[in-house]
Amino acid sequence: MKNLLAPATLQFMVKLNQEARSEAEHADIIAEPGFGKHFTDHMVDICWSEMGSWHRPRVQPYGPIALDPAAAVLHYAQEVFEGLKAYRHADGSIWTFRPEKNAERMQRSAARLALPELPTEYFVESLKQLIAVDARWVPSAPETSLYLRPFMFAKEAFLGVRPAKKVNYYVIASPAGAYFTGGVTPVSIWVTTDYARAGRGGTGAAKTGGNYASSLVAQQEAYDHGCAQVMFLDSETSEYIEELGGMNVVFVYRDGRVVTPESSSILEGITRDSILQLAEDRGLTVEQRRVSIDEVREGVASGDIVEMFACGTAAVVTPIAQFIADGYAIGDADAPAGELTLSLRQELTDIQYGRIPDRHGWLTRLDA
Ligand SMILES: Cc1ncc(COP(=O)(O)O)c(C=O)c1O
Repeated sequence: MKNLLAPATLQFMVKLNQEARSEAEHADIIAEPGFGKHFTDHMVDICWSEMGSWHRPRVQPYGPIALDPAAAVLHYAQEVFEGLKAYRHADGSIWTFRPEKNAERMQRSAARLALPELPTEYFVESLKQLIAVDARWVPSAPETSLYLRPFMFAKEAFLGVRPAKKVNYYVIASPAGAYFTGGVTPVSIWVTTDYARAGRGGTGAAKTGGNYASSLVAQQEAYDHGCAQVMFLDSETSEYIEELGGMNVVFVYRDGRVVTPESSSILEGITRDSILQLAEDRGLTVEQRRVSIDEVREGVASGDIVEMFACGTAAVVTPIAQFIADGYAIGDADAPAGELTLSLRQELTDIQYGRIPDRHGWLTRLDA
């Protein structure tokens, strides 16, 4: 669905929160933010209707959204979302990482879910508008950030199954603590053979709530087996690796190849894309192709595969020690984090936090 308004008309109305958290409350939260537990004082809200396209952009106090019980999203899950972070640099300035990539992915997700596409300029502007009032919520301790969660859903009250004619886009934000506090620790991953995340022609490549709803029982199975996340295989043959519940997966070969699964039903991670670029910059060969679980089993056993890691916005890069499934284990629970894994992680976070030059032009300043 296309838009009628030109970006120049996007004038935000700002209503400040009169009940914003006190300095003391703010300090308590920032000292120990956790992840996804606390939210800033404001949120962005932009309306869309079939007739008026995008309109009424607002920054308003954070708070409940009133929904008609017949709102389409509550019944048919017509929604998409994004996740990215705002980083505070040593000089106090606030930046985000490749936001246009998130905007484009949200446009692709929206197209798949028959939702309107929010122009990239609106998306980036919405983040700047929120930071303009909530800058104090971007923490400054090492590896902390403000997690930004843009989302869009069908608000129209109508029980027929068709694309909604009334949609809202929001941005909320949540201060995030360092993911790994005692050093980057390798994790075990549960390989589910009972459940699939997505199939051919489905919504696997879209960032939409339904994908996560359908992953929850498999994720619970992972926790029950002492694993940090679940890994899904392809739905047709259960032979090929897709991705984890909320991260992409990468394998490092002894000969220096960096290999990641190619599939039309996984989310195209921005962290993965960036890591692969950094690997290529180092002269490593990057391969994006189908990867079978047998290849990984044999590669780990023979020593051809020397490192495995998962990557995504929340934890950046997480080393994988082993894969566990009903009847087998690949790798070793005590395997240390790989050297390349840690060094790529370091380079990426150094760019994000402004500690080394941003040679690819990946950073966008949010507070100016
Ligand atoms: C299912 C899934 N795959 C991959 C990713 C990694 O994507 P990104 O690196 O853009 O955060 C995420 C996290 O957003 C995810 O939820």
